[in-house]
Amino acid sequence: MAERKPVHITAEELAEQRRYAAMVSAMAERPASYHVVTYGCQMNAHDSEKLAGMLRDMGMTEAPDRTEADFVIFNTCCVRDNAERRALGNVTWLKEIRKKNPKLIIAVCGCMIQQPGMAEKILKQYKFVDLAFGTSNLYKLPELLYQTLNSDRAVVVVEDEDTIAEDLPIKRLRNDAAYITIMYGCDNFCSYCIVPYVRGRERSREMEAILQEARELKASGVKEIMLLGQNVNSYGKGLEGDVSFARLLRELDAIGIERIRFMTSHPKDLSDELIRAMGECKHVLPQFHLPVQHGNDGVLRRMNHRYTREQYLDKVRKLRQAVPGIGLTTDIIVGFPGETEEQFQDTLSIVQEVGYDSAFTFIYSPRTGTVAADMPDQIPEDVATDRIKRLIAAQEEGQRKAMSRFIGMEEEVLVEGLSRRSSKQVSGHGKHGVGITLPGTEDDIGKIIRVRVTAMKNNTLMAERIE
Ligand code: 5AD
Ligand code: SF4
Repeated sequence: MAERKPVHITAEELAEQRRYAAMVSAMAERPASYHVVTYGCQMNAHDSEKLAGMLRDMGMTEAPDRTEADFVIFNTCCVRDNAERRALGNVTWLKEIRKKNPKLIIAVCGCMIQQPGMAEKILKQYKFVDLAFGTSNLYKLPELLYQTLNSDRAVVVVEDEDTIAEDLPIKRLRNDAAYITIMYGCDNFCSYCIVPYVRGRERSREMEAILQEARELKASGVKEIMLLGQNVNSYGKGLEGDVSFARLLRELDAIGIERIRFMTSHPKDLSDELIRAMGECKHVLPQFHLPVQHGNDGVLRRMNHRYTREQYLDKVRKLRQAVPGIGLTTDIIVGFPGETEEQFQDTLSIVQEVGYDSAFTFIYSPRTGTVAADMPDQIPEDVATDRIKRLIAAQEEGQRKAMSRFIGMEEEVLVEGLSRRSSKQVSGHGKHGVGITLPGTEDDIGKIIRVRVTAMKNNTLMAERIE
């Protein structure tokens, strides 16, 4: 594959976008309100915060619901077929809303659009879509909206470039916790995964830009940062100087933000140096999302994972040694092409062996353009459905056992909101990443509260406050 270099969006290009934003803002006919609908991962959620930031700077207010907005953006995901179908179903539904609000503008962006030929296909099939743009063109929203408002035809821009755009406006979802992207794209090419095709080659932000963002967030009172990347463990590849993810964690730790988390990690890139940093950094939370995907070496090989079951388990042991009680979570796929019942049993056994606090479980979904989509022996749906049911049962059992270690333990909860069940309770996440409910009021939201865990109910822990 030809080498691709990251494209840094210059200050001049961003200034030009701000000029477009001012022009849109001054237009009498522009939408007054917007709503962004997000699918997929945290990366996408953070991209949506950037879209909202740009729209806010164009003078628009956020509508609480898509049915009340003049401009609706669907920020799509394509990692599995159902994410795609859901997005398209909702776009179609919006067509009806347009009958009531003829001014409504509909845009579709994100990973789904970045697939080759997809934007054109969507515009042909869904004629009511006004604007479509890919992940690499996100920073151009002001210009694209300006064009859309000045054109009778749909606007489509999808460039196959690995862009890095610094200093975009961001309208954050929360005041107490914030996302920071540290790297974009992915070079792993797991054989089932579309991400490298829609998010481009791996590229890291300069460390100083990340540290500066973290300092600003701390100054604004943020208590928790979540570092984002498809493979944060390989942060720094291609940058000059002594940079690594472990070093970045240490530098961030020194800034003094109370809680630091990150996702996602690839087991093959989880170094001893990083495990040491995990153990030594005061503010890095004792939790690790380490997608295993499968428990059988043959399947792992065909997934192009470049680690074995034993190597994975060894990293888990080292993590647990360095950070006792660490909260482990994972992603697992069942029904990968050619997966036999015996191989699936290895997935069941690794789940039992590790004891995850939670796991995201998926049925394999063939993605056009990936290596696995063309593999023989695709697994019938009924077999895959049966396997995922058994996997979920095994995971739930393992989870109950794993989570019982918290009972009687002290924890610290960053309170996120009122509990859904009672107005006298609040809930949030503990340092280990598990959901915790405790007595409290609205005043506690955004605060970190010390508790003692008293019981376990379904997938959450119940706790009492420690004065
Ligand atoms: N089918 C099913 N699950 C997938 N994932 C990624 N690609 C696919 C696919 N084609 C899962 C992986 C990954 C998570 C984000 O989504 O488990 O870790
Ligand atoms: Fe996130 Fe991947 Fe889905 Fe894109 S395709 S939104 S990167 S999970």
